[in-house]
Amino acid sequence: MNDNKNIIEIKGLKKSYDNGKIMALNGIDLEIKKGEFISIIGPSGSGKSTLLNMIGALDKADEGFINVAGIDLMQNKDLSKFRSKEIGFVFQLHNLIPNLTVIENVQIPMFETKSSGKEMQNRAMELLEAVELVDKINQTPTKLSGGERQRVAIARALVNHPSIILADEPTGALDSKTGDMILNLIKDIHKKENVTLVMVTHEPYVAKMADRIINVLDGKIGGDNLTKIIK
Ligand SMILES: Nc1ncnc2c1ncn2[C@@H]1O[C@H](COP(=O)(O)OP(=O)(O)O)[C@@H](O)[C@H]1O
Ligand SMILES: [Mg+2]
Repeated sequence: MNDNKNIIEIKGLKKSYDNGKIMALNGIDLEIKKGEFISIIGPSGSGKSTLLNMIGALDKADEGFINVAGIDLMQNKDLSKFRSKEIGFVFQLHNLIPNLTVIENVQIPMFETKSSGKEMQNRAMELLEAVELVDKINQTPTKLSGGERQRVAIARALVNHPSIILADEPTGALDSKTGDMILNLIKDIHKKENVTLVMVTHEPYVAKMADRIINVLDGKIGGDNLTKIIK
C-alpha cells in the first residue's frame, strides 16, 4: 500500500492566532508515508483543521519544518502551483460553485494546468462515472442532495491526479447513511488511485477506517489518550 517513503514530514510546527493568544498548533511532529490512509481525530478546537490547512498550504505556519511531496512549505513561494498539482481538498461543506454545472465544478482545478478542453472533459467524465453521477453532469449543485454534492467535491479533488487528498470532516454535514456511502467511496478511491489520504474527523468509528489514527489534543499530537478516545 505504501513504499515506505515519507510524503509528509512535519517537525516542531507551530501556528498561533490573535497575536499569539491562541496556540492552534503547539509543536506538531508528524510523518506520513506515501499511500497511507491516516485519520486525524481530536476534540473540537484541538487544531485538526489548522494542521490540515498547513499540509495543504492554505495557510502558513509561524515556525517549524513542513515538507509535503518534496516541497519545503516554509520556503516555497509558488504555493498555488503546489496546491493544484499535489493536493485535492474535500471539506465538510463542499464549496461547489452554485451557478456552474456539476461537470464544470469538477473541471475547475484543471484550469490551473495546461490541459486541453478535451482532456478536461475526459478526466471529469471518468471521475463522475466513478462517483456515479454521469446522469447529473449538466445540473447545478443546488439541485443535488448533500451526498451527491459531496461526491462532486470528491471528483473535483481528484481531477488533477493529486498525490494527497486532504479531507476535513467530509461526512460532518451528512446523515449517517449517506456519510457511510461517502466514506466507502473515499476508501475505494484511496485504493484505486493509490493516493495518500489524510482525513480529519471527530468520530472514532470514522477514524477507525484508516490504516493509522493520529490524535490531536491542544495543538499537539497526543500519545496515551489515543486509546481512551478510540474506546
Ligand atoms: N482564522 C482563525 N482565527 C483565529 N483563531 C482561529 C482561526 N482558525 C482557528 N482558530 C482557533 O485555533 C484553534 C484550533 O482550531 P481548529 O484547527 O479549527 O480546530 P479543529 O479543527 O480541531 O476544531 C481553535 O481555538 C480555534 O478557535
Ligand atoms: Mg475543524
